[in-house]
Amino acid sequence: MEFHLNGQSIEVDPSGTLLDALRGLVPPEPSAQSVKDGCSPQGQCGCCTVWVDGSPRLACVTPVTRVHGRQVTTLEGLDSAERWAQCFVANGASQCGFCTPGIIMRLAAMDPAQLAEPVAVHRVLKSHLCRCTGWTPILDAVQDYVADTALDLDPLTSPRARERAVLEGRSPQMLGVEVALGGGGFAADTAPHDARYAQVPEDLDPENPTSFHPEQWSVFEDLGAWRAAVENAPGRRSSLGISWPIEPAGGSDQVARVLQTTWVEPAYLEPDCSWCAPGGAPASTHANGGAFGGKQLSQLPAAVAQLASEHRVAVRAQLTREQVVRWGPKRPPMAIAVVEHLEHHLGDESGVPSVRRWDISISVARTPGISDAIRSVDLPEGVHLEITEIDVAGPPTSAAIRAAGWAELAAVLSSLRTESGADSSEQISDLVISPEGARASARFDEAGELWLTVQCGADPHDPGEMTVLRSYCMGAVHMALGWVISEGIAVDAQGEPRDLTLRSLGIPGSTQMPVVHLTVLPPDLDSTPVNGSDAVFAAVAAALWRRSGWAPRWPIQA
Ligand code: FES
Repeated sequence: MEFHLNGQSIEVDPSGTLLDALRGLVPPEPSAQSVKDGCSPQGQCGCCTVWVDGSPRLACVTPVTRVHGRQVTTLEGLDSAERWAQCFVANGASQCGFCTPGIIMRLAAMDPAQLAEPVAVHRVLKSHLCRCTGWTPILDAVQDYVADTALDLDPLTSPRARERAVLEGRSPQMLGVEVALGGGGFAADTAPHDARYAQVPEDLDPENPTSFHPEQWSVFEDLGAWRAAVENAPGRRSSLGISWPIEPAGGSDQVARVLQTTWVEPAYLEPDCSWCAPGGAPASTHANGGAFGGKQLSQLPAAVAQLASEHRVAVRAQLTREQVVRWGPKRPPMAIAVVEHLEHHLGDESGVPSVRRWDISISVARTPGISDAIRSVDLPEGVHLEITEIDVAGPPTSAAIRAAGWAELAAVLSSLRTESGADSSEQISDLVISPEGARASARFDEAGELWLTVQCGADPHDPGEMTVLRSYCMGAVHMALGWVISEGIAVDAQGEPRDLTLRSLGIPGSTQMPVVHLTVLPPDLDSTPVNGSDAVFAAVAAALWRRSGWAPRWPIQA
């Protein structure tokens, strides 16, 4: 069958989806690598959005036969692509860049009057997910596009801007128009066209990278054969509710504060992918972003390296979205109980306790490194901490997930500072100091607007570094919002995740982001630059918790 791709007639296999047809194109056919596969065939992330006869369509749920004889446009064929990409990059609206081409295709299909209307922009963004930027920079990019603002992208080439991106992303990070155009160097895009497709075995042990057995891995000639072999279910949302698998220690009347959390999916948009040529080095699963720590245990690079040498041909392996959610590591669930002790000095008749002490008991799902992560927080005087790791039936967990362990304890400590009266004004800010030394404070005002400060060795006078830092801080606000308010995974009694689609994870949409007033404080003398967005993540979580009146379970709206 035949269709027109960016004005050029091409012939493709009539089986499968438009996404597979576009992703499977081999030169001299035109490239459509900007079209990303974030969740196929779930149709939920928007990364594969293209135009069919000028209207946006999700390529992963469009049978290719439906576009027979029609005009298909991708970012490669969009006249305004460069200008859109510039607006995105100038506003920090493209970090990993995996979601960006699809979002640009959606926005570019709107007429100028609609683009100028925030309600209309929010409405179309509902078809997309961006996990990195917290939406606000994307809305700013739209404004710049509409206003035809003159843009200066040079600041983003400053060494401080580039260093900041690496610090915040915790992995190599490209900055530039090519990222927004889909050229972030993702393994699925850089794999040789003749690379075979490996099927990840169903009984893969995600926590044990040394358990690789090549005979369990099937290797297929092409994408079509691989698609036919993998369980290609469109994912599902469970009717099972979220559960909190760990009960807090205690039972004492003196328990002053309780916090129970559940498994949370990092939900990075680029599913794990790697490829390797025989004798070569495997492509990193972290092409353009740290995936919030979620890919650190990925077995794919080691697996494709062994498979390539065994089959003597380049081999690629990638996870489907459903596999990412089933096998990828989650934030470890925990339960925190705080017992408060009030002591009076002998002879003090005032009734006001002169000494307060707190015993904090943390029970956490057994996870390598999690106790150390929790203990990395500096404890104020009067706080005694006890940590117990316990076995819980559930998906794999990792201490590498963003601020795991320490952010929970930081939120609890923040609440105690207030209770002690040390910071009891109406305008309470939740101050968090990360184990690396970044300081962030967050406060919601009566209108629900968020006042945020961060001090992380960044230079407020470097515009490029500020663009990058702001983008990561907005992403951290968005992720904290999801963590405290709405995100979690339904897990059954056997420990199997039952919510397997991106839309079932509770990730907030663009309309849920508060107005954020961000102040970057100048660095202290001799402070070195450190990651600031994780401190922001923890401080915003603490402030949201305060606003909820210390709801004992996150997510609050489960
Ligand atoms: Fe949107 Fe990474 S930039 S998901």
